[in-house]
Amino acid sequence: MGLKPTTERYHLATVSLHWLMLALFVGVYASIELRVLFEKGTAARDAMKNLHFTLGLLMFALVLVRIAMRIRHPAPAALASIAPWQGVAAKLGHLALYALMIGMPLAGWLLLSAAGKPIPFFGLELPALLAKNKELADQIKQVHEFVGTAGYWLIGGHAAAALFHHYILRDATLQRMSPAGWLTGRSRGARRNPMEAAGSPRVG
Ligand code: HEM
Ligand code: HEM
Repeated sequence: MGLKPTTERYHLATVSLHWLMLALFVGVYASIELRVLFEKGTAARDAMKNLHFTLGLLMFALVLVRIAMRIRHPAPAALASIAPWQGVAAKLGHLALYALMIGMPLAGWLLLSAAGKPIPFFGLELPALLAKNKELADQIKQVHEFVGTAGYWLIGGHAAAALFHHYILRDATLQRMSPAGWLTGRSRGARRNPMEAAGSPRVG
């Protein structure tokens, strides 16, 4: 397998965890949004909520692995023609996404703790992080729901930027985060003119 150096593309560990996180976000959002299909108090609705908690907590565990991997395998160098402000915007966007992946599960865990409810995780029950406090639980819930809604925009904007680079600017940004190059050993500019690919900006 022709593995490419990390100066050209994101490391396979980062790439794998990136797309796994996307799948987890789909599950986390779908489970909580679709709970309304079931009546309050039904087992099905509780199962949807438990799925939301479990997948969200799994994301928390995996983002810690992801950060460790990212420290071990730094991001590839910014593409040649990138303007400094674009690099800063991309970094800020990525930092906000990391904050979302850490902050949302943590807020969820705190919220269930303060509400005095069990915290389920694959058949286990995690310890409460706070003493029971209904008022605090309500406050954390409001923040959790507000940031959860903001997360749609953040992820949507991030994905739109990546697709804009791929389909409109036709540069290598998306390919750097694709497992295909790792599996086939193709260079990041292989799909189109490598000169074009070399000068592409980064997304945030
Ligand atoms: C990235 C991870 C997470 C995201 C993006 C997320 C997102 C959301 C969203 C959008 C809502 C609001 C739904 C609505 O207003 O209808 C919500 C509600 C909630 N979330 Fe999360 N969440 C995450 C992780 C967690 C975790 C790990 C827990 C607990 C361990 C949790 C506990 C809750 C609770 C208790 C509610 C309120 C449910 C209800 O009103 O019945 N969340 N979450
Ligand atoms: C369809 C959805 C998505 C697409 C097309 C996409 C695409 C990309 C691309 C192309 C990059 C590389 C950007 C660059 O080189 O500057 C990237 C990086 C990144 N993406 Fe996504 N992404 C998606 C969803 C997500 C989701 C759901 C998250 C998590 C909340 C996320 C978090 C990140 C982070 C944190 C980075 C920076 C990686 C690092 O430097 O460690 N992405 N994404």
